[in-house]
Amino acid sequence: MKGVILSGGTGTRLRPITHTGPKQLVPVANKPVLEYAIEDLKEAGITEIGIILGNVGREEIQNLVGDGSKYGVDVTYIVQGNPLGLAHAAGCAREFVGDDDFVMYLGDNILNQGISELVESFKAGDYGAGISLQHVDNPQQFGIADVDVDGNVEGLVEKPDDPPSDLALIGIYVFSPAVFDAIDRLEPSWRGELEITDAIQLLLEDGYKIDSHVVEGWWKDTGKPGDILEANRLVLESQKRSLDGTVEEGAEVNGRVQLARSATIESGAVVRGPVSIADDVTIEDGSYVGPYTSIGENTRIAGPHIENTVIVGESEVTTNGRIIDSLIGRAAQVESAEGMLPEGRRMVVGENSQLHL
Ligand code: TTP
Repeated sequence: MKGVILSGGTGTRLRPITHTGPKQLVPVANKPVLEYAIEDLKEAGITEIGIILGNVGREEIQNLVGDGSKYGVDVTYIVQGNPLGLAHAAGCAREFVGDDDFVMYLGDNILNQGISELVESFKAGDYGAGISLQHVDNPQQFGIADVDVDGNVEGLVEKPDDPPSDLALIGIYVFSPAVFDAIDRLEPSWRGELEITDAIQLLLEDGYKIDSHVVEGWWKDTGKPGDILEANRLVLESQKRSLDGTVEEGAEVNGRVQLARSATIESGAVVRGPVSIADDVTIEDGSYVGPYTSIGENTRIAGPHIENTVIVGESEVTTNGRIIDSLIGRAAQVESAEGMLPEGRRMVVGENSQLHL
């Protein structure tokens, strides 16, 4: 079995963060989202992986992942270009996949319990496809599966007014190569995309059995800023304490804090986990870094109180204000306005930024 990770798309809902890089490389607990997908595939025994690239961030993805050897996998890059839909992206992998079955993993999704059970369940039967599902509270807002008692899928409906179940499709699928023939017959949907749910529906109509697997642990699609913060909380929730860096005497460090080797918590700073601090970060005297915060590489924190926040990296945060529930992109500077006249907030804010002042 092979793996295909979809890392194209435009990431419009994550602007301005995605103006400078692809959303699949946004760090969650200081690890790019894409690496979680690679690790899940590897754990399920899948080491031949195709990564679909769009128009944004091709180079950054290739620079990070390389040939995959650092993860113990073998990576092939496939250019999709314009995002013409999930089924179009899957179709681009036809040559790479050949006659094998494959897992299709949306590169901006994170899953707590991995994909091994989905893969084993698919292998145990004679299926055209396998889908992963999760119980949701608001089925009207998802693609919903109608499933029989054995888990065989009987139909799929997109955002139904009258949902047949509360089981929503999430971003990990398994396909037999029969899906390529179905993709060839697809017409673009009302939003102009080739939809993967339509391809699965065609497989059903062609008489293929479709397997399903209900994911019990958490799952997160990191498409919007709030989703990044939530994914970050979920991952940090289960991290262990490991202080590889320097904690100066007079610093207070409580709970599950991960401190990278070349990071420093200086005397007079307070850090309360769960918190993740990457290499070359300094937390200076008077700063407080509280629960559910991840601070990316090469960042200086001097004075603020920070909670429930993701700082991507290469930044300086020297205000002494409170920063909560925030996503701070690469190379940002957040400084104090204290003592500056006239009094007021000063900002250089990019397109599509969001400020709550
Ligand atoms: P989406 O989040 O549906 O699309 P998007 O990345 O364009 O985001 P937005 O709606 O904010 O503009 O995509 C889910 C995943 O699939 C994501 O990792 C991008 C990838 N993808 C492709 O690789 N090719 C495509 O044609 C599409 C639509 C998505």
